[in-house]
Amino acid sequence: MEKSLIILKPDAVQRGLIGPIITRLEQRGLKFSGMKLMQIGRALAEEHYGVHKGKPFYDGLVQYITASPVVVIAIQGQDVIQVIRNTVGATNPVNAAPGTIRGDYGLEIGRNLIHASDSPENGDKEVALFFAPEELTTWDRNTDAWIYE
Ligand code: RTP
Ligand code: MG
Repeated sequence: MEKSLIILKPDAVQRGLIGPIITRLEQRGLKFSGMKLMQIGRALAEEHYGVHKGKPFYDGLVQYITASPVVVIAIQGQDVIQVIRNTVGATNPVNAAPGTIRGDYGLEIGRNLIHASDSPENGDKEVALFFAPEELTTWDRNTDAWIYE
């Protein structure tokens, strides 16, 4: 079972796109194990985006992600890393396919609406960074047998 951390970034929240974006993930059949609205502080932003430190876009990225509240979601399930990255679309919305979240709602890389973990290792790490164990729930869904063979 893989874990993925989703962040609905400040532009998604400010533009009133929490509902439409969550709907796409939910209708795909993904199962949420944690969800909350929060303000990301500078220290957490720097830890989450530590891999990008030193890159030209880093300061703007930290400024963007801390500018306004975000919604964070933990998702657990089979192959969720690739499934969610495909649903989210290319990093730069200019190149994101229509039908993807970034391809339908975004226009520029610095305002690309959503984060999704890029590997199972990072998924585990990022979910643990944003959620305390008691904020996560593993639950049986009555429709699971109609989503997974
Ligand atoms: P994310 O981590 O947010 O899910 O996005 P990603 O994997 O598709 O892209 P990544 O390479 O991890 O970059 C993280 C975020 O940094 C911003 N960025 N700006 N101006 C630029 O050249 C540039 N490159 C990346 C984007 O907000 C990207 O989502
Ligand atoms: Mg990334």
